[in-house]
Amino acid sequence: MRFSSYLAVALLQASVSVASPLEAKVLAPRSSRPHHAVSPYHPGKLFPSSPARTKTCTVKSHGKGKDDSDYILKAIKECNNGGHVIFSKETNYTIGTALDLTFLQHIDLDIQGTITFTNDTDYWQANAFKQVFQNATTFFQLGGTDVNVYGGGTLDGNGQIWYDLYAKDIYILRPILFGTIGLKGGRIEDLNLRYSPQWYNFVANSSDVVFSDLTISGGSKSSNVAKNTDGWDTYRSSNIVIQNSHIDNGDDCVSFKPNSTDIVVQNLICNGSHGISVGSLGQYLGEVDIVKNVYVYNISMSNASDGARIKVWPGISSALSGDLQGGGGSGAVSNITYDGMTISNVDYAIEITQCYGQKNLTLCNEFPSNLTISDITIRNFKGTTSKKYDPLVGYLVCSSPSVCSDITIENIDVVSPSGTDLYKCGSIAGIESQVNCAAAT
Ligand SMILES: *[C@@H]1O[C@H](CO)[C@@H](O)[C@H](O)[C@H]1NC(C)=O
Ligand SMILES: *[C@@H]1O[C@H](CO)[C@@H](O)[C@H](O)[C@H]1NC(C)=O
Ligand SMILES: *[C@@H]1O[C@H](CO)[C@@H](O)[C@H](O)[C@H]1NC(C)=O
Ligand SMILES: *[C@@H]1O[C@H](CO)[C@@H](O)[C@H](O)[C@H]1NC(C)=O
Ligand SMILES: *[C@@H]1O[C@H](CO)[C@@H](O)[C@H](O)[C@H]1NC(C)=O
Ligand SMILES: *[C@@H]1O[C@H](CO)[C@@H](O)[C@H](O)[C@H]1NC(C)=O
Ligand SMILES: *[C@@H]1O[C@H](CO)[C@@H](O)[C@H](O)[C@H]1NC(C)=O
Ligand SMILES: *[C@@H]1O[C@H](CO)[C@@H](O)[C@H](O)[C@H]1NC(C)=O
Ligand SMILES: *[C@@H]1O[C@H](CO)[C@@H](O)[C@H](O)[C@H]1NC(C)=O
Ligand SMILES: *[C@@H]1O[C@H](CO)[C@@H](O)[C@H](O)[C@H]1NC(C)=O
Ligand SMILES: *[C@@H]1O[C@H](CO)[C@@H](O)[C@H](O)[C@H]1NC(C)=O
Repeated sequence: MRFSSYLAVALLQASVSVASPLEAKVLAPRSSRPHHAVSPYHPGKLFPSSPARTKTCTVKSHGKGKDDSDYILKAIKECNNGGHVIFSKETNYTIGTALDLTFLQHIDLDIQGTITFTNDTDYWQANAFKQVFQNATTFFQLGGTDVNVYGGGTLDGNGQIWYDLYAKDIYILRPILFGTIGLKGGRIEDLNLRYSPQWYNFVANSSDVVFSDLTISGGSKSSNVAKNTDGWDTYRSSNIVIQNSHIDNGDDCVSFKPNSTDIVVQNLICNGSHGISVGSLGQYLGEVDIVKNVYVYNISMSNASDGARIKVWPGISSALSGDLQGGGGSGAVSNITYDGMTISNVDYAIEITQCYGQKNLTLCNEFPSNLTISDITIRNFKGTTSKKYDPLVGYLVCSSPSVCSDITIENIDVVSPSGTDLYKCGSIAGIESQVNCAAAT
């Protein structure tokens, strides 16, 4: 049975590839689909199957840094609805046009070469796709149904020019490298993401998507830091897996933004990040933000500001910085588990705040968050924090016990460089019996 369907696929492929012996010679070899197993955890809902592709299209390149968007669109349109698009190995493709790829259906994008986005910051600021939430924009938007992207190649966001521009003007719109927008069923695997101007991945309006075996790295070569380079941000998305990846970045390793549900994050090595974060949430007055059913398992977290982090704005409008302000929004964070994290040189192993953006805790407690936090489990952490908050190793501060409940912290073997294991605690009922709370100051 399995043999015969394999044979049928092979025959179909052969009928396309050897249609003309001349053409066969120029066809680049196809990568086979990696299809890494979702393991050990699974968000519960089955992922739809993806039929084999029966046609191959190879993307040509103009070379010399010229915009290849015309060739890319041509190949994708030719191979949409059942085909396999090859970006050839050892080829440098350039993208200088914002590509709307939300029409994709049953297609594999086999990126073996390198795709670099142009450094034309004026063009991208005017034309990158506006995703509205937090003023996010993306170089391209990839969506549709049943899309697989893999091939071992690289997407390079040419971030340096953006890091330098942002240092001069925090209001410039830096594009996100990989926009997964409105994708229903898909896998993004075996790719290298480099030098994103901002977040590396924005996953919005999507469901049933697996990210596996990716590497993320970049950073600034000038004195201007590569800021806000989150690994992934999920938004209005459900049944998402992020696993088996190595992330070297300068903001959240993974962040669950409003309406992220049924998500598994496992087997990640994060370095230099702000941790695996729920939020920030409750930023926009009048909006309802939900994050629930999240399982975070087996994370190595080094050189970071946080390990596990839940950040929620208080009930009063607050400003973290000129381009980041909010508060007053409502909603709920519930059924979140962090199970297994090894930390090294991390400022806070665990941070829960409902006073995000509001340094005045008196004011925060006067206007408790409109967004509740409940049913949170954090367990099996080990390692050593950084010196930054020594003797503290964590920060557990809600705005009122009435909006923060059922928080379980267990089997935590984390110490500061001086050997202490103290937490700053506030407004969480029963927390004193679970961790060593520092005396109130
Ligand atoms: C692609 O770009 C890299 C880095 O700039 C360069 O080393 C390599 O020679 C280029 N390859 C081709 C085929 O142009
Ligand atoms: C932008 O890229 C072009 C083509 O690669 C290059 O010639 C130019 O020097 C770059 N400009 C900046 C400001 O980096
Ligand atoms: C998601 O879908 C909603 C509703 O159709 C739409 O308003 C929004 O622009 C889409 N994209 C994002 C990033 O939210
Ligand atoms: C979005 O852009 C507007 C206009 O530049 C700015 O006022 C606002 O602070 C920005 N919001 C965020 C969340 O960056
Ligand atoms: C944990 O993740 C690492 C990769 O970061 C992997 O090598 C290891 O096998 C995983 N362990 C378990 C128990 O899944
Ligand atoms: C890890 O992050 C630190 C601090 O951000 C950085 O100095 C170091 O180069 C990174 N290590 C690796 C292996 O990328
Ligand atoms: C999130 O979900 C809630 C509850 O279903 C809904 O009221 C809210 O509008 C959603 N927010 C966004 C940004 O989609
Ligand atoms: C809580 O989330 C886990 C995944 O982390 C899921 O398996 C479980 O069904 C959820 N519980 C409820 C009551 O939804
Ligand atoms: C953390 O940073 C130190 C110093 O920058 C570096 O030596 C180490 O490799 C980093 N850890 C990881 C896991 O990359
Ligand atoms: C903090 O807020 C309280 C209550 O509104 C106010 O009395 C106090 O002056 C504020 N403290 C600072 C340092 O602004
Ligand atoms: C939000 O919280 C503030 C202070 O706790 C309260 O005054 C306000 O009515 C709440 N708003 C909503 C929409 O729940």
